[in-house]
Amino acid sequence: MVSPTERRLIAEARDARRSAYARYSKFRVGTALLAASGRVYRGCNVENASYGLTVCAERVAFFNAVTAGERHFVALAVVSDGAATPCGACRQVMAEFAPELKVLVADARRRGPVKTFLLNELLPSRFSL
Ligand code: THU
Repeated sequence: MVSPTERRLIAEARDARRSAYARYSKFRVGTALLAASGRVYRGCNVENASYGLTVCAERVAFFNAVTAGERHFVALAVVSDGAATPCGACRQVMAEFAPELKVLVADARRRGPVKTFLLNELLPSRFSL
């Protein structure tokens, strides 16, 4: 079940996707991260001509939030064509701050169903120190 708050989070991720700088892959991703404070932080993917320097939308949202002083997170919405699930590197970044994060994944092309995951399922046996 997706709550009204989660619906709003998905709408914010959809909007953030409009800012994606996806000049090379053309694959646009938008994210919205709900912190325990109630504030929402957005992200989009930012590509580079030196491809390996590209940063995913998920990490942009987390780094924005952490820069603002946030450390505790509730849910992350991710919107892209075909409702892609977050890459492995981003999963590890999420696990640093929010091992129990709820991840909502939606398709940019359809209003329809939203896939929901717990980060534990996406990244079992995470690395931690
Ligand atoms: N991308 C994301 O923003 N998040 C992911 O979880 C996977 C991939 C971006 C990186 C690149 O700009 C484009 O999607 C294609 O890989």
